[in-house]
Amino acid sequence: MVKPSVLVTRRWPAAVEAQLTENYNAVLNTGDKPMSPAEIRDALKRYDAVLPTVTDTLSAEALDVPAARTKILANYGVGYSHICEPSARDLGMTVTNTPDVLSECTADLAMTLLLMVARRTGEGERELRAGNWSGWRPTHLVGTKVSGKTLGIIGFGRIGQEMARRAHHGFGMKILVQNRSAVSAEVLKQFNATQVATVDDLLPQCDFISLHCPGGSKNRHLINGRRLDLMKPGAFLINTARGEVVDEHALVQSLMFDTIGGAALDVFDGEPRISPDLLQCDSLVMLPHLGSATRESREAMGFRVLDNLGDFFAGRTPRDQVI
Ligand code: DGY
Repeated sequence: MVKPSVLVTRRWPAAVEAQLTENYNAVLNTGDKPMSPAEIRDALKRYDAVLPTVTDTLSAEALDVPAARTKILANYGVGYSHICEPSARDLGMTVTNTPDVLSECTADLAMTLLLMVARRTGEGERELRAGNWSGWRPTHLVGTKVSGKTLGIIGFGRIGQEMARRAHHGFGMKILVQNRSAVSAEVLKQFNATQVATVDDLLPQCDFISLHCPGGSKNRHLINGRRLDLMKPGAFLINTARGEVVDEHALVQSLMFDTIGGAALDVFDGEPRISPDLLQCDSLVMLPHLGSATRESREAMGFRVLDNLGDFFAGRTPRDQVI
């Protein structure tokens, strides 16, 4: 039997690439250079499956390929807002993602960022590396205590719940939740959490806000200037979801005028380009999209893609089919 042809758009963990090559007629991206929209369009005409990541643009234009050969986009990652849903549907493509296997590690990173920004670790490290540390003193880089404070979680899926677990059980934080659908009483009880109706209800009540909702046009600039103004003075914003969820221009204003205490971002609008204004903000901690970046999660994500592909080519519904 002829093996299906599969294009992998980025470098993946070696063990997963080896398995892909064994099971499929796989073309790997050994140079790990991001693919251009034109290359993606071309790939859709030539391969049975394309395995993209968040760095690939599968917009309506990129998916405007009438004679597409590709029948499945098996995304490496849980978020798939870089794939235009209506276009994929029009083309009759199946789309899968990789949930669960990265939830703990992404929540670990969100908690790391929360602690980093509350305790001013970015400022401390920059000072030390610049050779400017003059020694211990009672008023030096005094941050904010985390334990016992209130954390607002926007988006209470798997990653949001793992964040609640860490914050509540590890740091005794009070958890408030905003989610587009009702969260079951059983789930809320695990974290002694309370669900509030709207983002506007949540923001004024919290010392920390952590974003765990999907990206895409529906949530673009969900956190805008008006909503940043609703946050408690001195509160902190953490974003490990998608860059477009936060209006970065408005965030810079809030940080420059100290209307919030600080922010920590792992994701950026238009990444890897970073707005130069963000770089000027002292009370901002930034990481280069590391949420799921552990050996364990990245391998598990790859094997989850393999499971989805296996199901698809065997004529079964893939367990992680999202479109
Ligand atoms: C995810 O899984 O969505 C990560 O952000 C990488 O895309």
